[in-house]
Amino acid sequence: MKIHGRHYRTIWVNDDGWSVQVIDQTKLPFAFETKRLASDDDAADAIKTMVVRGAPLIGATAAYGLCMALRQDASDEALDAAYRKLHATRPTAINLKWALDEMSAAVRNRPRQERVAAAYARAAELCDQDVATNEAIGRQGLKIIEEIAARKKGSQVNILTHCNAGWLACVDWGTALAPIYMAHDKGIKLHVWADETRPRNQGGSLTAYELGAHGVPHAVIADNAGGHLMQHGRVDMCIVGTDRTTANGDVANKIGTYLKALAAKDNDVPFYVALPSSTIDWTIEDGLKEIPIEERSPREITHVMGRTAEGKVVDVELTAPGSPAANPAFDVTPARLVTGLITERGTVPASRQGLLKLFPERA
Ligand code: MRU
Repeated sequence: MKIHGRHYRTIWVNDDGWSVQVIDQTKLPFAFETKRLASDDDAADAIKTMVVRGAPLIGATAAYGLCMALRQDASDEALDAAYRKLHATRPTAINLKWALDEMSAAVRNRPRQERVAAAYARAAELCDQDVATNEAIGRQGLKIIEEIAARKKGSQVNILTHCNAGWLACVDWGTALAPIYMAHDKGIKLHVWADETRPRNQGGSLTAYELGAHGVPHAVIADNAGGHLMQHGRVDMCIVGTDRTTANGDVANKIGTYLKALAAKDNDVPFYVALPSSTIDWTIEDGLKEIPIEERSPREITHVMGRTAEGKVVDVELTAPGSPAANPAFDVTPARLVTGLITERGTVPASRQGLLKLFPERA
C-alpha cells in the first residue's frame, strides 16, 4: 500500500541482508516511523508491545525472529528456544504458531550451515504468500460487495468493520479491507464505518489511517454505535478479520466483534469474516471452550494515547483513579452468527462442511 506516494509492505529485510524493518504501529496515526529489529528478542518485543500486530503480521514477524535467532546459533536447541520465546508473545492468533511451524519445518532437517539461508528464504516466501492470499481474499470479497451494489442499483454501499484487518495487520492488502480497497478502486460507491475499537483504538487510529491514505470514504464511530446504525438501515454488510477460526467456523477476533455479530443477526445485516487459511485452527472445534483469550494490561483501559492541541502525543488517564480494570482482548463469535467465511479459495458458510468444501485436503 502507498504512504506518501511510496509503496510499503509492513515488514521487509534491510539492505544489510539480515535485519528487519517494520512500521511502528504504536506511533500511528500521528507519526509514520519504522523500527529496526535485529534479534529474536527484538521481534518478540515488537509483537508483545504491539509495534506490530494483526494475526498475519505477527506470524511474519515471528518468522523473521526465528531467522535472526538462527543467525546467532543454528543449533536445534537454539531453534527450539527461539520458537518457544516467539510463540509465548501473544496467545490468540494462530498465525503465530502456523508461521513458526512452517519455519521449523523448512530448517530442521537441514545441515546447520544451510539453515540461515533456508530460513530467510522461507520467511520471504511466507510474506509473499500472505500478499497473494490477501489479494485473492480481496477478489472473493469484491464479488459480495458488487452483488450488494447491484442490488442497491449503484447507490452507496455501507460497510462496517471492527478493529484493523487491513494492510497494517498483514504484509500487504489486508483481509477484511482488501475487498473494500478493490471495490473502491473499481469505482463502486462505498462508505466504511470504522469501529473505534477500544481499548487500543485500532479502528480509530489504524483503519481510519489506512482508509484515509487510500481515499476510501469512512467515518470512525464509537464501538457502541454499530447496533443503532444497523437498526436504521445504515449498514449493508459487516466484514471483519479473525485471529483464529475453528474447524467448525467459530471466529475469534478483537473484543467487541461478537456484539456486532449479534446486532447484525438481529437486523438481518450480513456478517462476513475474511481470513487466510493460515488462520484456521483445524485442531479445535469449539471456539468458546478452546480458543485462548489474551488478557492484556488494565492500563489499556484506564489510559489512552492522544495528541494535544500543541501536537504532543501523550498518555492520559480516563477512569476514576485507582479503579481496577479488566481487559480481555478478544471474543469468540459463534459460527451461527457468521453469514460467510471469505477465504483465498472462495466464500463458504461458517461450518465444518463449508470449510472442507474449500480445503478437502483437511478432511
Ligand atoms: O490485538 P490486535 O490488534 O493484534 O488484533 C487484531 C485483530 O483482531 C484483527 O482483526 C485480526 O488480527 C485479523 S487481521 C487481518
